[in-house]
Amino acid sequence: MIRVFIPRDSGALSMGAEAVARAVAVEAVARGADVTVVRNGSRGLYWLEPMVEVEIAGGRVAYGPVSAADVPELFSAGFLQGKKHRLALGKTEEIPYLKQQERLTFARVGITDPVSVADYEAHDGYRGLRKALGMDGAAIVEQVTQSGLRGRGGAAFPTGIKWKTVLGTAADQKYVVCNADEGDSGTFSDRMVMEGDPLVLVEGMTIAGIAVGATRGYIYIRSEYPHATRALDEAIAAAYAAGYLGQNVLGSGKPFDLEVRVGAGAYICGEETAMLESLEGKRGMVRFKPPLPAIAGLFGKPTIINNVISLASVPIILDKGGEFYRNYGMGRSRGTLPIQLAGNLKYGGLVEKAFGVTLRQLLYDFGGGSLSGRPIRAVQVGGPLGAYLPESQFDTPFDYEAFVGISAMLGHGGVVAFDDTVDMAQMARYAMEFCAIESCGKCTPCRIGSTRGVEVIDKIIAGTERDANVALVRDLCDTMLNGSLCALGGMTPFPVVSALNHFPEDFGLSASALAGAAR
Ligand SMILES: Cc1cc2nc3c(=O)[nH]c(=O)nc-3n(C[C@H](O)[C@H](O)[C@H](O)COP(=O)(O)O)c2cc1C
Ligand code: SF4
Repeated sequence: MIRVFIPRDSGALSMGAEAVARAVAVEAVARGADVTVVRNGSRGLYWLEPMVEVEIAGGRVAYGPVSAADVPELFSAGFLQGKKHRLALGKTEEIPYLKQQERLTFARVGITDPVSVADYEAHDGYRGLRKALGMDGAAIVEQVTQSGLRGRGGAAFPTGIKWKTVLGTAADQKYVVCNADEGDSGTFSDRMVMEGDPLVLVEGMTIAGIAVGATRGYIYIRSEYPHATRALDEAIAAAYAAGYLGQNVLGSGKPFDLEVRVGAGAYICGEETAMLESLEGKRGMVRFKPPLPAIAGLFGKPTIINNVISLASVPIILDKGGEFYRNYGMGRSRGTLPIQLAGNLKYGGLVEKAFGVTLRQLLYDFGGGSLSGRPIRAVQVGGPLGAYLPESQFDTPFDYEAFVGISAMLGHGGVVAFDDTVDMAQMARYAMEFCAIESCGKCTPCRIGSTRGVEVIDKIIAGTERDANVALVRDLCDTMLNGSLCALGGMTPFPVVSALNHFPEDFGLSASALAGAAR
């Protein structure tokens, strides 16, 4: 029997993976070949999707991008034996884009059958939970603290400290909530994990629950992710069937139940307190803090809220120890970050690297430069609230503190590249407009400020009292930054001000006008 891997990942499906899988099955029957098709996750080399892999002696070989029409020809060329073909990519693990990565959180993505517990176990799955079940809560939290893991959802708050607060808060009920809203532009790492290795998230949440005494978990996922939702549902059912979830996890006497909740689609529902409101069945509005969700979160109970990647990084930390994870990275940014390359790049995809890799390495060594072939002029890192970085900042290492040092942020690790045809005044306007559309409306600087911000930027673009209006928009940004209740209003100034500072010519500003406005 020969195993052929064809991704069930949304990105691959959008490029025709379903038709390829059907064609391979039909052709195998027609030729009497003994083939089993495994629907794996994507390896994250999206320009090669659908990428088909064949397991031969000595590893897996890849072909891509494959269309259904290529399938008969691939059979004739002997792809089941790994033979040559114009779409042949060689051994998958030797493809430079993959070989140069450090895949810890993504260790199994693209390799295993995402919803098979047996395959998961065969690839080191559930080793972390087994270890955790032999430890007390404080010892588990200590490992997570030692690893240096910081929240991958955006704010980079130390995960161990959050867990310690929940552990130390006495309550009759505690919860673990996974933030799978993944609303940032150009991001897809959460989706890839949920589609490609959902059991690692299930395991991470179970460890979190066991650590702090939370018996129930929810995964809050955006409605735009139907394939991820299906994979999670299948994985959760498989975990229950194998005794990894339920009232008596692996016979330990400890309970942990888990279910998926689908959000109705609003960027603000990714903000943790708005997400709790939504989970409770209410409109997604931001809550005042304190109390912190770790003390009074879902239904007023102590709640761990973590991003998908944060939770999916926990199993390997428990399995190999906090020290192992900590050995990757730089400064206070420990471990690895699954970085998502998107926008105008030749090779968009998922790159998991230890902190310290520079933006330039990502854009050119991995991304291959712009798809259009024109110079890359601006890059937005960290989603719609992230700053626009000019070429002079491309050597900044991926490190939370280094990015703060240039008034930018890493956020969820999304990288969106633009070539020299981009109009940065329009991008600044878009940032304000996005805030106006997505504002939950609870506080004035964001609700009113963003709408006025669009109007003022329009005046700048039209050349109406340009210098005075630039001063006004800077003043407005200052008010939003300092007076907003949450980071939607509070960080919208980052893309706006960075566009003004680094690309003044797009706003029709002369150097002297810029100097005057900056004063
Ligand atoms: C407007 C807004 C949108 C957010 N969207 C997300 C999101 O889609 N996914 C996410 O994990 N965190 C998002 N966050 C961050 C969460 O509020 C929170 O910090 C995170 O879920 C905590 O998990 P972590 O510590 O593991 O990162 C958002 C924050 C804001 C202000
Ligand atoms: S900053 Fe905007 S999104 Fe955040 S609470 Fe205020 S109005 Fe709501």
